[in-house]
Amino acid sequence: MSSAEKTFVTVGKVADLPPGERLVVELGRRWVLIMNVEGALHAVEDVCSHEEYALSEVGELDGFTLTCTQHGACFDIRNGGVLCAPAMMGIKVFEVRVVGDEIQIKA
Ligand code: FES
Repeated sequence: MSSAEKTFVTVGKVADLPPGERLVVELGRRWVLIMNVEGALHAVEDVCSHEEYALSEVGELDGFTLTCTQHGACFDIRNGGVLCAPAMMGIKVFEVRVVGDEIQIKA
């Protein structure tokens, strides 16, 4: 196993995250929100960059756009970029992959 391989951490089972669903997992000291958009998994840090609300609780997903319902900031879950104010900074995205029946995130 290469050192790059070692940085991926298993966080759940594919069966736990069907299309249209979301999953929150702990990764070290961070919480990560994983979303299944039409079979493709996307992972972002579970915190809005505006006032640090948990996006898993206040976020609404439409396509690849995650909107924080607290004040309306929205983000592209593919790259974490800001799409709408009032957020000024993007959110962290994590590389996610499926190995067998496991969901893995690059730590
Ligand atoms: S906390 Fe998310 S937009 Fe303000």
